[in-house]
Amino acid sequence: MAKPPTVYVLNGPNLNLLGVREPEIYGTDTLDDIAGALEDRGRELGLGIDMRQSNHEGHLIDWLHEAQAEGARAVILNAGAFTHTSVALHDAVKAISVPVIEVHLSNPQARESFRRRSFVAPVAQGTIAGFGALGYQLALDAAARL
Ligand code: DQA
Repeated sequence: MAKPPTVYVLNGPNLNLLGVREPEIYGTDTLDDIAGALEDRGRELGLGIDMRQSNHEGHLIDWLHEAQAEGARAVILNAGAFTHTSVALHDAVKAISVPVIEVHLSNPQARESFRRRSFVAPVAQGTIAGFGALGYQLALDAAARL
């Protein structure tokens, strides 16, 4: 059987600590919980899920390039704090033609002023923020319709 189109789900720094990290802000779901829910929804939508996390900026950049090389359907990207700092991530998203959907569990616009700037948003297809783990599902549903 042919492989279903794949959506890369890339997670940046400190998101490996989801579930224990500031649960009042980020919720109690772990990254594994989110991956499981995405795989279930992906099966319904006919999409494969490739979920990854790294605390290293370069890994995220390499994976964005890989998504392009592998012909991914879309990338769901929660770049964590690199969202607010990384020109290199901005350039990598801009360099690929795969649509990138920016996701944040919290709503960075409603938090500290240093979170209000996103280097990803101007080059993303769109942004989903403030809905906790549900945001990943909403992004996957959006990816399926692109
Ligand atoms: C985050 C928001 C960022 O500001 C923060 O640095 C994170 C998580 C979110 O999912 O809400 O690490 O991307």
